[in-house]
Amino acid sequence: MKGKIYKGFSKLTEAEKRHLVSHLCEEPKISELEMSSLITKDTLRRDMFMDLSENTISAYHLPYGIAPNFVVNGNIYHVPMVTEESSVVAAAASAARFWADRGGFVVKELKTTKLGHVYFQWFANPDKLLSQWNTLKTVLLSRLKYVTASMVQRGGGITNLQLADDSAKTDKLFRLVVEFDTVNSMGANFINTCLEELAQGLDEKLNQGKSPEEADCRIVMSILSNYVDECTVTVEVGCPIRNLHGITDGMSPQQFAQKVELAYQIAWNDVYRAATHNKGIMNGVDSVIIATGNDWRAAEAGAHTFASRSGQYRALSQCKIEDDNIRIWITIPLAIGTVGGITNLHPLARKSLEILGNPTAPELMAIVASAGLASNFAAVQSLVTVGIQKGHMKLHLVNIFNALGASPKQRQLATDFFKGEKVSFAAVKQFMDEHKI
Ligand code: MEV
Repeated sequence: MKGKIYKGFSKLTEAEKRHLVSHLCEEPKISELEMSSLITKDTLRRDMFMDLSENTISAYHLPYGIAPNFVVNGNIYHVPMVTEESSVVAAAASAARFWADRGGFVVKELKTTKLGHVYFQWFANPDKLLSQWNTLKTVLLSRLKYVTASMVQRGGGITNLQLADDSAKTDKLFRLVVEFDTVNSMGANFINTCLEELAQGLDEKLNQGKSPEEADCRIVMSILSNYVDECTVTVEVGCPIRNLHGITDGMSPQQFAQKVELAYQIAWNDVYRAATHNKGIMNGVDSVIIATGNDWRAAEAGAHTFASRSGQYRALSQCKIEDDNIRIWITIPLAIGTVGGITNLHPLARKSLEILGNPTAPELMAIVASAGLASNFAAVQSLVTVGIQKGHMKLHLVNIFNALGASPKQRQLATDFFKGEKVSFAAVKQFMDEHKI
């Protein structure tokens, strides 16, 4: 086995961890000093960053950009986006600008119910459980009052509690299905706390006076679901087809619209295209989610599960030509918040929310979905016209310069030269080799 197992890494001081890590590579590319200077000197912030995760030895930097001019429900937003991928921000910005002149993004539907489950096995006769469910439900809900009090004060809390019988699929399995309104917070901790409290209540009530061996009810686990199919937002753009000028690359607006509609149909029907189509959506979605300190893994898990809800993985966005109009829309589940978690803790997450005018969680859902649809439309527009590489590689040129260590003079010459040429790593390298200045 290559490498070495480190025991007790977490017990080392931060400097020791950094020292150890910087000596893990045979030829260290990044010095200890460089690694430490990535962390802010401001003690309070520094501690906050370092405490977000564990075994921390540095902060990991990603570009933070702004895609301006998103019109969402008539409001203009300049949207913070964090991504390492070149052309994502530029593409979203250009689609946002295009649709801003055509009515912008409009929210068609927005739902905010989040879900969690307590899974348990029931070893007695199921009728015994079902017959006492109504009493049990009242007991459980009243037990939770002290946990939910402050959320209720903010307008949220538990909105529904049901019992589901899953025993046909998994032996003796039952499930508490709990619906939550977490107002402006993502609410993951709140939901999981409630669920664990419910599980404890269930255990106490159903197993009263019984030893663990005699217990009728065995709790398996309690956890929120990242499949929030009742916490979704639908946003739409649209315009008369004749207004699709300026982006059709020589096609008539009608031809362009038909090609766009076909591209969306392919992504609806073909799983290979659906995955890539949705990746383009998540380029925009994740960038805003990261910029606002939300959980992008939760968004990814939810989005892809939602994309598979029919039994086949499909595109999250669709396009229809109706009469002389084109309509493009996305429906995406988003469990995100504008308070709690790191949204207020991380200085840049807080800044992002400020830049967005301190939105409510539903407003942020609409902005994030719009960023997803903008990224998606920009990608499809390129794909059905000039192809994706032309614009992408132009913006990626600077990364190639950096990778090749190009001098300022070389950059200038190459930038001019590649305005009219196809950009590729090999072509830029050859140019650099021929222009060693
Ligand atoms: C690249 O990050 C995303 C695209 O592949 C999306 C798409 O194909 O629609 C360009």
